[in-house]
Amino acid sequence: MDRRNIVLIGFMGVGKGALARELVRCDGSLYALDTDDMIESMTNTRIKKIFATAGEAAFRALERKTADWLAKSVTNAVISTGGGFYMVDNLKAIGTVVYLRADFDWILDRILNAPNAKKKLKKRPLFQDVEKARRLFLERYHRYEEVADVIVDVDRSDTRSIAQEVLGTVAQQ
Ligand code: S3P
Repeated sequence: MDRRNIVLIGFMGVGKGALARELVRCDGSLYALDTDDMIESMTNTRIKKIFATAGEAAFRALERKTADWLAKSVTNAVISTGGGFYMVDNLKAIGTVVYLRADFDWILDRILNAPNAKKKLKKRPLFQDVEKARRLFLERYHRYEEVADVIVDVDRSDTRSIAQEVLGTVAQQ
């Protein structure tokens, strides 16, 4: 039987990709997709370069195209999304929307303490200036809460426990 997808939303650096991989380890019937990776393969261009050459509006159009394809064609997946993907109109048509919530300073610490921190920052055009990123976070966090079916606080426990919490909660939806 087809199962609804799990769509992970949240701010840059909160750990959507890492949680998607953990969810797949916990539930072998799911597979992981990432919207930024899909856009990079579709265009054969890095996100950073899309922003620099075509601009943010063009990137958002690619996100909408990706959302349409996911809503029509994908089941049984856990989908990690870019931090602005929540803006597509048909988010809930893709699957159960799970917001990974944490405050900005926790996210900043997570990025700065990653072994590849420089690379993580460099590939994110909207995280080049910390104070601008903080303002973007403040503009967005209510919106993430509004569009989510499920909210999970990720700053309180380890990835394995969060994955189990997500699977348990999504199963009840
Ligand atoms: C963006 C987040 C990025 C990427 C792009 C724009 C955003 O993904 O999609 O740089 O608008 O928040 P991550 O959330 O994986 O960093």
